[in-house]
Amino acid sequence: MTDITLFPQPARLERSGETFSLPPDARIIAHDRALGEILANYLRPATGFALPVDAANNGETNAIILEAATAGDSPEAYSLVAGGTTLRLRAADRRGFLHAFQTVRQLLPRQILSREVVTGVDWTMPGVAIDDEPAFGWRGMHLDVGRHFFPLDFIKKFIDLLAFYKLNTFHWHLTEDQGWRIEIKKYPLLTEIGGYRAETVIGHNSDEYDGQPYGGFYTQGEIREAVAYAAERGITIVPEIEMPGHAVAALAAYPHLGCRGEGYQVRTKWGIAEDIFCAGKDEVFDFLEDVLDETLGLFPSEYIHIGGDEAPKARWEQCLACQARIQAEGLADEHELQSWFIRRIENWLNAGGRRLVGWDEILEGGLAPNATVMSWRGSEGGIAAANAGHDVVMTPNTYCYLDYYQSLDRDSEPLAIPSDLPLQQVWDYVVIPPQIDKEKRHHILGGQGNIWTEYMPNSDHVEYMMFPRAIAIADVLWHHPQERDYAALVERLRAHLPSLDALGVNYRALDS
Ligand code: ACM
Ligand code: ZN
Repeated sequence: MTDITLFPQPARLERSGETFSLPPDARIIAHDRALGEILANYLRPATGFALPVDAANNGETNAIILEAATAGDSPEAYSLVAGGTTLRLRAADRRGFLHAFQTVRQLLPRQILSREVVTGVDWTMPGVAIDDEPAFGWRGMHLDVGRHFFPLDFIKKFIDLLAFYKLNTFHWHLTEDQGWRIEIKKYPLLTEIGGYRAETVIGHNSDEYDGQPYGGFYTQGEIREAVAYAAERGITIVPEIEMPGHAVAALAAYPHLGCRGEGYQVRTKWGIAEDIFCAGKDEVFDFLEDVLDETLGLFPSEYIHIGGDEAPKARWEQCLACQARIQAEGLADEHELQSWFIRRIENWLNAGGRRLVGWDEILEGGLAPNATVMSWRGSEGGIAAANAGHDVVMTPNTYCYLDYYQSLDRDSEPLAIPSDLPLQQVWDYVVIPPQIDKEKRHHILGGQGNIWTEYMPNSDHVEYMMFPRAIAIADVLWHHPQERDYAALVERLRAHLPSLDALGVNYRALDS
């Protein structure tokens, strides 16, 4: 039996000499039949075996046994023992079993990942005892569907891939200057007008445009389908509704929500827009609360992302309503107005039992009391927020921005954001910076990779930018290795990447 390569690497793994083989007449014995069926469904397409699921344990020979364990520290923990005629999976929580199933899929010959029956394969896995749990509870991947739109089929594939690497959070960036992608029943123009742009700039904001109308959106039915699909796979979708900035598509649909009140068009080029939601008009908050109300109805996630990044203050400085708000609330300036804006939204979310998460600009002018900060402009915002006692998700652009070039030889790569993030740099991602006080480290919930899609016009391209870098992020977030041996990572990836071929994923090949 060859070496075992698992991504992410388990916390503890011991080899034993005795392999486990899956015979056609194997049974799944499960205290929870629905869970057993999930495993059977993973194993069926490639093997063609219709493994029966029994609640009763009538003998453990040729069996995969799912056993309830007593709860430990992590609800995502599981153990797996394979050898002889049994494969035993134990977990206290459904989430732990789902991770165990992914480990089973990676331990079996990789043909198991095929969607069609593969004959002539000996379905044998190495003898192992694995005792596994994640280092961090927030292990995420973000996807921007505003700059380019990806259909529900790809969203499901994306979710499957997150599950395969034991990521548990999908941060779905649903609204942007260049497109509003979530149906809101009370404001149909958000998608009718805001879901489409007239054309798209060519390259890095050249002055040339492609002349092609572009757009799309998810119906609420599709969103529900995605949320359910993710939940079945142990993944929480955190929706992002951007405010006060990155809102031009919404302003194009409902111009009275901006400071100028007219003249907005869904943006056709990239970058930061000066037009943002007005902070002075009460209608803006009525609108945002209505939008969030429908959003909460679709997404059970405890966390709701409200953006908060890249909101220039030029319009607020010139707006009578915004200036009146600053006066009325006794605020010092537009930065405090941003803080007031976020606090107001936080109050509303908290009253509904949800928690606010936002990009690190929400530190500007004072952080809302219960807010969780997503540190993206490096780690400084996350360090400051954690040391001040706030929860933090660490996604520094210097390690986690998968829209950056994968090679320093940019000419050899497809067009990307003009910054560099080779795999080796991703692998150096340290989730808890040393500047965070020891007693505050528990505020680091985890981290995530971010996929901004200005330069990713289709899902093949998203996959190319995502892999293999997302695998390194998943590995770091699961077991947070103290030592980072890049040569060893590359060797593991060389053994593993054919699994992505089996899954039909377009990835960047390793440098030879
Ligand atoms: C961001 O990349 N603007 C959060
Ligand atoms: Zn205003």
